[in-house]
Amino acid sequence: MSDANDTDPPQESGAETDTRDALADRRGLGDPVYQPAEDSGLLAEAGATHARGVACEVGTGSGWVAEQLRAVDAVDHVVGTDLNPHACREARARGVEAARVDLVSALADNVVDTLLFNPPYLPTDPENEWDDWQERALSGGENGRAVIEPFLDAAPRVLAPDGVVLLLVSSLAGFADVVGYAVDCGFDAETVREESYPYETLSVVRLSA
Ligand SMILES: C[S@@+](CC[C@H](N)C(=O)[O-])C[C@H]1O[C@@H](n2cnc3c(N)ncnc32)[C@H](O)[C@@H]1O
Repeated sequence: MSDANDTDPPQESGAETDTRDALADRRGLGDPVYQPAEDSGLLAEAGATHARGVACEVGTGSGWVAEQLRAVDAVDHVVGTDLNPHACREARARGVEAARVDLVSALADNVVDTLLFNPPYLPTDPENEWDDWQERALSGGENGRAVIEPFLDAAPRVLAPDGVVLLLVSSLAGFADVVGYAVDCGFDAETVREESYPYETLSVVRLSA
């Protein structure tokens, strides 16, 4: 995997690429770390109301959401994970314990009370993949769910009894498909935040076993 600092995104045309370019621009194109945006804010808001106990933010990026969680009274401890080493460094600089791992792979069984994730969700044609850290932050593969579904498969293992997931869901990834997949994984789903923007509707769903 290459580093965004070493890779210039190719110039492309087409509606899908325009959408991705606009989103990448709003989220700091060229920065190897995803910077807080509307989706980050919505997840942090949901966390302020629904997070408690031991909280883990998967794909913590800059660590901004995790940092907000540390101020929540009901939250005892916050950790983050990210595949991107630049993100882990930036999150640690904010005081967030961040582990460079895939999703929840380094976590023990049944330890997390609140698992949060603002996943990469933008549907992306394989031919238009940039193969850099910005792509890893944005691209959800062809259907937008390439990272979300493995996350939902893995989440039950690490959740404590009565643990919950707060998952940011974009309409671009197919709200009904994501929630349907979560239900198939054994979760009950409740929408706790929703905002509409010109490109997409963002929701935060609270998933409980
Ligand atoms: C949309 S960004 C969200 C960043 C941050 N949580 C926020 O809300 O501002 C998605 C993040 O997930 C990370 N990521 C992507 N795939 C991952 C995986 N398999 N395991 C861990 N982190 C991953 C990316 O590097 C990126 O930092």
